[in-house]
Amino acid sequence: MAVDDKIKWDKKYSENSDLLSPREPSMAVVKNYKECSGNRALDLACGAGRNSLFLEENGFEVDAVDISKLALDTLNGRSKYNKINTILADLDEFDLGEERYDFIVKCNFLDRDLIKRAKKALKIGGIMVVETYIEDEENEKMNSNSNFLLKEDELLDIFKSGFEILEYKTFWNESFEKYRMKKASIVVKRLA
Ligand SMILES: C[S@@+](CC[C@H](N)C(=O)[O-])C[C@H]1O[C@@H](n2cnc3c(N)ncnc32)[C@H](O)[C@@H]1O
Repeated sequence: MAVDDKIKWDKKYSENSDLLSPREPSMAVVKNYKECSGNRALDLACGAGRNSLFLEENGFEVDAVDISKLALDTLNGRSKYNKINTILADLDEFDLGEERYDFIVKCNFLDRDLIKRAKKALKIGGIMVVETYIEDEENEKMNSNSNFLLKEDELLDIFKSGFEILEYKTFWNESFEKYRMKKASIVVKRLA
């Protein structure tokens, strides 16, 4: 397990409990979850699970993976239908399998290798939402590590073959977030 990430995130959540407050799900998830035919979902780096909880309420069985026990305990306390399987794991190493999920969501967490593995874990015809921060000179958190920021249009490039792009947009992040940062969001369907 990436011990540094685990310590960092558990500390961050214990010192800023507002980060675990209930939050609205991603608009891209809300708008597009009905596009997929099955009900098996994966929420990568789920945190307190705003997207997992929405998917559970809408009939999905969700594997929700995160490295923070504090976040997963919070999510377990909010799950109403016993349809969320929380998994404490390091996503650098976690095996996502192949053609396993109908819907995959990865929000506010950038790991380019993980996107590659998530593409394979999606069933043919499955839907994936990737949404995270991008480079912009007006970002409030200027010292963000650029490894954790997408380049403008990078998501379009990542999904240019084998996927149909259902939606792509950039926007200024949700008001509940601490810093004003630009984000990109893509919704794709796996074709082959
Ligand atoms: C900014 S939060 C995003 C939470 C959620 N996806 C959302 O959009 O509300 C990033 C999450 O990534 C998790 N994380 C960081 N490194 C990780 C790793 N190596 N493996 C699994 N989860 C990790 C953190 O614990 C944290 O909950």
